[in-house]
Amino acid sequence: MATTRPPVTIRPADVAEHFLGIIGLYQAHDWTHAGDPTRLRIAIEHSSFAVVALEEERVVGFARAMSDEAFAVYIADILVSPDRQRQGIGRTLAQAILDHYPMDRFHHQVLVAERGAEGFYRRLGMVPVTSYGLTAFIRTRA
Ligand SMILES: CC(C)(COP(=O)(O)OP(=O)(O)OC[C@H]1O[C@@H](n2cnc3c(N)ncnc32)[C@H](O)[C@@H]1OP(=O)(O)O)[C@@H](O)C(=O)NCCC(=O)NCCS
Repeated sequence: MATTRPPVTIRPADVAEHFLGIIGLYQAHDWTHAGDPTRLRIAIEHSSFAVVALEEERVVGFARAMSDEAFAVYIADILVSPDRQRQGIGRTLAQAILDHYPMDRFHHQVLVAERGAEGFYRRLGMVPVTSYGLTAFIRTRA
């Protein structure tokens, strides 16, 4: 008999309550943030807006953004648990961020897509900066 999963709900992230679940997502994707929990906690606490996707108590997704709260928002991370991908959770998380910074008030919403995630962002209606004759620059540790 097929089992029914509990519904996934999107909530503002509460660092005290959700941090272990959130860092678990970074670990699951082998992102470097997971190796430095203290800095990751600071990063989340200083994000302008952060949301979790909860399946009952379990954190199955996380997204965060930084903004000047007037013109621009930068979406920093979107992560969905590997066993829960391609079920609409990433879209719902991203939409929660994009709705929080609506285009009728904000000038632009930007992000740097990880390799392999371009198609996901295109499905959300985002376009490469080159579409506007712009060039994005980055300085990073390789
Ligand atoms: C990228 C990620 C957040 C997508 O989350 P998800 O819950 O699997 O995505 P959704 O199920 O909401 O997909 C929404 C749409 O994007 C499509 N999509 C999802 N991942 C995709 C991918 N990697 N490439 C192309 N299309 C993708 C889905 O098919 C769906 O299309 P539809 O509108 O036709 O139904 C998730 O795969 C993830 O956590 N990846 C690892 C971390 C990462 O790279 N994050 C991005 C950082 S820039």
